Amino acid sequence: MISDRLLGVEGSKSVGLASVLMKLKKEGKDIIALNVGEPDLATPDVVKEATYKAMLENHTRYSLVEGIPELRERIATRFQKQTGRKIDPSQVLVSNGSKQTLYNLFQTLLNPGDEVIIPRPYWVSFPEAVKLAGGIPVFIDAPDLQLPVDGIKAAVTKKTKLIIVNSPNNPSGVVYKKEDMIAIANLAVEKNIHIVSDEAYDALVYDDQEKFSFASLSDEVFNHVIFVQSFSKTFMMTGFRIGYSIASTEITKNLNKLQSHLTGNNCTFAQWGAVAAIDHEEEIVPPMVALMKKRRDLCLELSKGLFEVETPGGAFYLFPKVTQYFDRFKDSAEMATYILEKTGVAGLGGSAFGMEGHLRFAFTASESDLREAFRRMREVLL
Ligand SMILES: Cc1ncc(COP(=O)(O)O)c(C=O)c1O
Repeated sequence: MISDRLLGVEGSKSVGLASVLMKLKKEGKDIIALNVGEPDLATPDVVKEATYKAMLENHTRYSLVEGIPELRERIATRFQKQTGRKIDPSQVLVSNGSKQTLYNLFQTLLNPGDEVIIPRPYWVSFPEAVKLAGGIPVFIDAPDLQLPVDGIKAAVTKKTKLIIVNSPNNPSGVVYKKEDMIAIANLAVEKNIHIVSDEAYDALVYDDQEKFSFASLSDEVFNHVIFVQSFSKTFMMTGFRIGYSIASTEITKNLNKLQSHLTGNNCTFAQWGAVAAIDHEEEIVPPMVALMKKRRDLCLELSKGLFEVETPGGAFYLFPKVTQYFDRFKDSAEMATYILEKTGVAGLGGSAFGMEGHLRFAFTASESDLREAFRRMREVLL
C-alpha cells in the first residue's frame, strides 16, 4: 500500500517525541520538555496584531505563490542590511516554513542518484528530505562538531550536487569558523557544487561573535549558495510556518513552479504578520537573544560535574558528550529514555542527529525549569 519512496524514510524523531510527551502530560506526569526546538516565548504582540488586522481586512484569500510583494521586498532589504549583498525581491520565495523550502529545493535540484554532502551531526530532516527527492545523503563526521572541511573535500565526486551547511548548528549549537566556511565556499566554486546554507538560527549568535554570511564573499561564491532562512526561531513564529529561500532567479522560478502544484502560497495573513516582524525586528530580536544567552550560561554552569559540553556559540541547544555514562546505558537513546522516565526531563539522544555519544537539550525553558531539570538529572545520574 505505502510507496517504496516513503518506506525508505524515517519519521521525524523530534516531532515523534512531542506526541509521546503530550500523552504523558495528559496523564499528569511532571514533564520538563527540553526536547523542543522552538522558543518557549510568545509570538510578539505586534506580529499577532498585524496578522489579526490582515484577517479583518480580508487578506484571507490566495496570494501569489512566491509570497506577497511587501514581504519579499522587506526580506530583500533585510538581507542587504545584514550581509551587504543587494538582491532583487524576485530572488525570494516564501514557503510553509524553511522545512518546506528545503523539501522544495531538493525536489527542484536533485536527480535520482545525485549526492548531497551532510556534515554529521545534522538536523533530522536533511537526510530524509534528500532521500524523498531521490538523492543520496553522504554523511561526513564532525567529531569536534566543527565543519569537517577535509572530510567534505575528500567526499566530493562527480555526482555531488549540494553541500548542506547549517550554522549555527542544530543539534550542536556550534557556529562554524569563518575560515572553514570560506574553504567550503571556494570548494563549491572550484567543483561547481551548490551550498545549501540553512540559517534557521542566524539571529541566535552569542558573545559578540562576527555574523559571517556567504553573501559577503565574491559574486561567484554568492551564485553557488542557496540561502534558507526562517521566521520561526528568530521571531518566535514557529506556528506561522514562514521560511524562505534566496537563490538565483532561475532556481527561484523553478521552486515557484513546484510550489504552485504543492501548497501554493503561504497563509496570506501570516505573511502580513511576518511583514510586521521585520518592521519591528529591533524591538523583538535583541531581548530574545539576550535571554537565550543568559539561559545558555546558566546551563553551562549547571552542567559542571554532570556533563562535558562544548560552549554553544549559537542557537539554543546544549549537546553534551555523555559517554562517561555508557557503563550504565547502551546508547544515548536508552539514556534519554531513562532520564525521561526517572525525572520527567525530556531530551533527545544524539543518534537522532546521526551522532552517538551525545544528548541534546534545548534551553527553551524558564530559568526555574532549567534549574529543576538539572537538579533532577544530577539526582539520578551522579
Ligand atoms: C536547522 C533547521 N533548519 C530548518 C528548520 C525548520 O524550521 P521551520 O520549518 O520552522 O522554518 C529547523 C527546525 O527545527 C532547524 O532546526
